[in-house]
Amino acid sequence: MPMKPKLVEAFHAQIQAEFQSAYTYLGMAAWFMENNLPGFAQWMRFQWEEETLHAMKLYDFLHNRGEQVALRAVAAPSKKYTTAVNVFENVRKHEQMITKSINDLYELALKEKDLPSQIVLQWFINEQVEEEAQVMEIIERLKLVGSDGPSIYLMDRQMAERPAPTAGA
Ligand SMILES: [Fe+2]
Ligand SMILES: [Fe+2]
Repeated sequence: MPMKPKLVEAFHAQIQAEFQSAYTYLGMAAWFMENNLPGFAQWMRFQWEEETLHAMKLYDFLHNRGEQVALRAVAAPSKKYTTAVNVFENVRKHEQMITKSINDLYELALKEKDLPSQIVLQWFINEQVEEEAQVMEIIERLKLVGSDGPSIYLMDRQMAERPAPTAGA
């Protein structure tokens, strides 16, 4: 069954938002590399990959529904970060914005009575709970570590251990 044009439009905006997330995290990866935190940089590269997978999940969904995929421009991310905590505070703000746009998209799918859209978006609703929890945990750990060099070094090593993302993450 074809989708309502308004819903297709909102999916296009969400694909753009996921690619914007990917690009933002890739910028953060560069910041971490430049600030001698290769583990955090690796973590951000995987986050870039994960966000790309999010965009592709929606991209494939639109195509499978027989709709056209229209890609939009993504903006250059800011690189004006001060500290690792500051970077992750930015991630937190960004993910809260993404959660709101996913929730709004779900509300629209309910309103339009589009059942397949509701189901694909339920996955994203769960994913956002995970994203926000993960970011909060990192912020708390960074605050605990503070400016203690050996602890920062250890945490950087741990950040590098994050496994590569899969389509289910
Ligand atoms: Fe995402
Ligand atoms: Fe995730």
